[in-house]
Amino acid sequence: MPEPSPDLMDKVVNLTKRRGFVFPASEIYGGFRSTYDYGPLGVLLKRNVMEAWWRSMVQLRDDIVGLDSAILMTPKVWEASGHLATFTDPLVDCRKCKERWREDQIEGVCPNCGSTDLTEARPFNLMFKTFVGPVEDEGSVAYLRPETAQGIFVNFMNVLQTSRKKPPFGIAQQGKSFRNEITPGNFIFRTREFEQMEMEFFVPPDEGPKWFEYWCQERLRWYIDLGIPEDLLRMRQHDAEELSHYSSGTADVEFLFPFGWGELEGVANRGDYDLTQHAKFSGERLEYFDQASGERYVPHVIEPAAGVGRSMMAFLLAAYDEDVVNDETRTVLRLHPRLAPYKVAVLPLSKKDTLTPTAREVLSILQPHFSTDYDETQAIGRRYRRQDEIGTPYCVTIDFETLEDRAVTVRDRDSLEQDRISIDKVVDYLKERLP
Ligand code: GAP
Repeated sequence: MPEPSPDLMDKVVNLTKRRGFVFPASEIYGGFRSTYDYGPLGVLLKRNVMEAWWRSMVQLRDDIVGLDSAILMTPKVWEASGHLATFTDPLVDCRKCKERWREDQIEGVCPNCGSTDLTEARPFNLMFKTFVGPVEDEGSVAYLRPETAQGIFVNFMNVLQTSRKKPPFGIAQQGKSFRNEITPGNFIFRTREFEQMEMEFFVPPDEGPKWFEYWCQERLRWYIDLGIPEDLLRMRQHDAEELSHYSSGTADVEFLFPFGWGELEGVANRGDYDLTQHAKFSGERLEYFDQASGERYVPHVIEPAAGVGRSMMAFLLAAYDEDVVNDETRTVLRLHPRLAPYKVAVLPLSKKDTLTPTAREVLSILQPHFSTDYDETQAIGRRYRRQDEIGTPYCVTIDFETLEDRAVTVRDRDSLEQDRISIDKVVDYLKERLP
């Protein structure tokens, strides 16, 4: 098993702050309880992760459709789903220092003061509560969704009827979820506000186990295809006590973080739990009727549920590398080109006015095709290092010869090879190399 370098986490967290990927939220006020903001490069990486997921789950398939449902839903949804009653963590108070902890994480000893004088555990619901409308009473209580999945279940009939799909088929959704985690931490691994990418795959009841296996393999492959080495990934089957209230079987895709193996994504066999519960609580029939066979059934659901922040963190940690170029150590993010914030950087060799018009012309030729950066400050070597450090796969340099031969130098981030390409061929050249 590979040993993650002990200071890798610090290096990556520092890089993300220094280069504008991730900032602590509300930082000028001293931060706010494990919340984070995504800066100019972070928002690009985040969107690329989400687009790569959408592409593989929706765009490249004809059996999955998309949805974007509301974050606020009637509390009845959470009553039916079981979240009001069971979406809880066991909480204990330390009688000595008054700190509060998750019982299952502290083994009977307060991590703050070492006391073993703890209260009995009591269930703490993780949903954020709010009020809808001008009156703050029990009748106006609502919850911020703790998972995107329920928005899919309550729209099952809408999607079934309008999309003309039949099981096996899936509904995919990405969006914010909120959990009042007792112990958030490890950077963006566990936060109270986070983004999910979830897909509910509705199948004939007897096909559940087959599709569960299928989605475990598919989802593991997604991370590998996007550049995470196989030895940093594993599938871990949940044992009976670990299973969520809705699940008859769950396997996690785990990544070897510097702090140990951690969950990136859960693949769960939710059976007919959710559709049955919502049918019961809403009084609506949530079933599939096969007109050809006259068969009527409640589909079973296989759910791959991933987190955007955790995937981003894994992609960054796996991509971080240091090597020596011209006797100098360089930091390079070997991000998969599909994920890299910028695909290409345009770098005029010098800031001289004579190069600027051609450099800006090249920029405007590339911009409609690729996410492109433009940098004319500092020596060229330092600018290459800056692009390596943020994972830009190609740098395009405009030099004084460009003015004569209308050609640019294209440098590859990983091989460091340089090709001289004419300006009118540079888009095709890059398109061949960027997926
Ligand atoms: N609908 C099923 C569901 O929500 P989950 O395992 O609780 O299952 C799915 O969450 C994924 O969402 C996790 O694998 C993780 O990547 C992400 N996630 C969950 N809680 C999170 C948190 N507090 N902070 C960041 N990501 C989180």
